[in-house]
Amino acid sequence: MKVNVVTGGGTGIGRAAAAMLPKDEKVVITGRRLEKLNKTAEELNAEGHQLVGMTCDVSKREDVKKLAEFAASLGDVSKVIHCAGVSGSMANRETIIRINALGTVHVNQEFYKVMNGGCIVDVASDSGYILPGIMLPGKGVYRLAIEDEDRFVTKMVKKARLGKDEGTNSQIAYMISKNFARWYSERCAYKYMANKGIRVFSISPGYVETPMTEKEKGEATDIMLSYTGLKRGAAPEELAYIITALADERASYLAGADLVCDGGVVNNGYGFLTATKKYKEKALEENW
Ligand SMILES: NC(=O)c1ccc[n+]([C@@H]2O[C@H](COP(=O)([O-])OP(=O)(O)OC[C@H]3O[C@@H](n4cnc5c(N)ncnc54)[C@H](OP(=O)(O)O)[C@@H]3O)[C@@H](O)[C@H]2O)c1
Repeated sequence: MKVNVVTGGGTGIGRAAAAMLPKDEKVVITGRRLEKLNKTAEELNAEGHQLVGMTCDVSKREDVKKLAEFAASLGDVSKVIHCAGVSGSMANRETIIRINALGTVHVNQEFYKVMNGGCIVDVASDSGYILPGIMLPGKGVYRLAIEDEDRFVTKMVKKARLGKDEGTNSQIAYMISKNFARWYSERCAYKYMANKGIRVFSISPGYVETPMTEKEKGEATDIMLSYTGLKRGAAPEELAYIITALADERASYLAGADLVCDGGVVNNGYGFLTATKKYKEKALEENW
């Protein structure tokens, strides 16, 4: 029996992805809130899916280890879709780095141990592309994630500081955490494929209408969305379709890459330094 795992599978993009996975394969969905997981499992199982909920905090390696072992005890772990994450307005800098950045390390490393073939999809974000290089920690700090998790967190948190406003600093921590997630995913790809035939790649969504973005509506979001040709955010299903299609065995040559799926926002010139109305026309024009 094939077993798939969706972290953050109780809500949003993860829930939509779980709903698109094959019904004849088991799916373990995880998150910190058991009631959300049970509700999603109940709803999708009523439609013929085989979902099992298990609590797991991806920032804790022991939790992820147990999750991977539990999934492997059910059958052959095939697709791991790592959606768990928190936004810049949901937590402080350290928590964001521990969940989004270290969580990606824990999920990739612990599932690598129990998988043979299959794929790991790491959900990053287009916001991982918008900071200028000078605001990013650099590869030396990123490599610490593999050698010394606590030093890694300390250095990442320190770099995610623009001034005294902790709200802005948390947003920067989110962008850095997602830049790291993409970097780390790309780094895993060669070793995982060469040693165990596991495909690893990432997806960088733009604005998606999920519980995470409910509180993010406002002028800054409107400006960002004005950089999409579509002039709107995405539905979770639009991302879930891409994720599950690329996780499918038939997409067998995709590894070590990131797919930006943001309606064109980053490619159309949106960035940390152009994220205001004033720059929009100029950014779009320069892009041509
Ligand atoms: N929505 C967007 O616009 C957008 C854009 C770019 C990237 N993304 C990324 O897409 C992914 C999914 O987000 P979403 O939009 O679908 O939001 P969401 O509905 O809030 O989903 C996030 C999920 O992650 C789980 N989670 C949070 N912290 C966790 C932890 N420490 N351990 C395990 N699970 C945890 C949450 O469940 P619990 O709270 O119960 O743990 C929740 O189910 C995230 O990584 C996010 O950063 C979203």
